[in-house]
Order: sequence, then structure tokens, then C-alpha cells
Amino acid sequence: MSGIVAFSSLKGGVGKSTLSVSVAGALAPHSALIDADPQATATAWAEADNLPFPVLTAPLTGQNVEAWIAEVLAVEARYVVIDLPPMLGAATAAALAICDLAAVPVTPSGADLKATNRTIAMIEEARAARGDGKPRALMVPSKVDRRTAAGAEIEAVLFDYGEPVSPLVSQRIAHVDAFTAGQWIGDYAPGTSGHTEIKTLASVIKRVLDKA
Ligand SMILES: Nc1ncnc2c1ncn2[C@@H]1O[C@H](COP(=O)(O)OP(=O)(O)O)[C@@H](O)[C@H]1O
Ligand SMILES: [Mg+2]
Repeated sequence: MSGIVAFSSLKGGVGKSTLSVSVAGALAPHSALIDADPQATATAWAEADNLPFPVLTAPLTGQNVEAWIAEVLAVEARYVVIDLPPMLGAATAAALAICDLAAVPVTPSGADLKATNRTIAMIEEARAARGDGKPRALMVPSKVDRRTAAGAEIEAVLFDYGEPVSPLVSQRIAHVDAFTAGQWIGDYAPGTSGHTEIKTLASVIKRVLDKA
């Protein structure tokens, strides 16, 4: 039995790919990552062959939804992490129809909050269609800089959505450099605060998936 978490946001640049690779790294060797974004960020990350989990390149375009769902459901890993493209419509809906948990990264910016409203509305539609309360949702404060006003209050803003809010992931150079090195942060910068934040996020996600 797999538990599936999909990193979902209708906005690009919020950290979906970074969090997908990082969380899959923290859950390895029990994890697999599906790169569903035609931009293939996670696939590029895996190119140097330094990641401790398999990355399956399976772009989700909206034209291939049924075959894509079958491919994801056939993956044999305890924890399946999906890195989604930032687009509305059939693609995101397909992932929300099969995942146990939608993790929604939100960065501290006003523009993000509008995209977040639309993402949460899609999660609610998926729940209504499935009728089993799934997918659960987890708002993930991402790329947070506490020195900014928006960064200082991001949890307060996210709690208003009425969904669980995870511990934050701070803005850190190490996440950018880990990508350049083709490593996940636990291998690139083990024992650092950035690694610890990811381990904490992964343990929250693991608990939800273990109960799913
Ligand atoms: N926590 C973080 N701290 C610093 N930079 C980050 C962090 N998360 C992501 N980034 C950087 O932000 C950019 C967008 O991140 P990415 O994960 O590709 O977002 P998305 O998949 O949502 O488009 C990348 O350059 C990435 O390295
Ligand atoms: Mg991405």
C-alpha cells in the first residue's frame, strides 16, 4: 500500500520541486518521486544520479490523464511524492483525485495567496467528488524570511484557510545549492537547520500518510 502526497500549487516558483525532492529524500529508501511537471525540474535534479530514491518522469499534460493515473498507481513504494506542474484544470484535478494528501506550498507574498485560494477550492472540489474526505490538505509555509513582515506572520494568514499548517521551511541558500549539486539537502548539508526543517516536514507528512 502506497501513501501518495502531491505538492500542489497553481503558482510557479513556490518551492514545489524543492520540497518534493527534499521530502522524498527524507523518506528514502521508502520513497519514490513522480515528476509530473513538463518543465522537469526534479528530473534535472536527478540527472547526476545522486538522489537516494527513484525519480519517475511522467509529465502530466491534461491529454494523458488516464494513462498517467495508471502509471502512478503502479509505483511500488511506501511513500509516493508527486511534483505537479503549476496549472489549472485536468492535470491538477487528476492528481487530486488519487492522492491521500495535497501539500500546498505558500510563500509570504500577496500574489501567492490568490493562487492559494484557487488551489484550496480545487482540493475542496476533489473531496466533494471522492466523498471520503480525501485528499487531506497541508499548507506548507515555504521560502520564509522571518525578517520580512509577510514572513513574520505567514502561519497566521495560512491558519485562516481552515486546513492544517505545517512547520515552516525557511528561505536558505542551501536549497538552491543542493539543486546545483544534484543532491537532496540531507546529503548536501546534513545536520543543518535546513535539513532539520525538512525532516520535520517529512515526519508530519509521513504521519498523515501512515493513517491514510
Ligand atoms: N526554501 C528555499 N530557500 C531558498 N530558495 C528556494 C527554496 N525553495 C525553493 N527555492 C528556490 O526557488 C526557486 C523555485 O523553486 P522550485 O522548487 O523550482 O518551485 P516550483 O517547483 O514551485 O516552481 C528555485 O530557484 C529554488 O532553488
Ligand atoms: Mg517545479
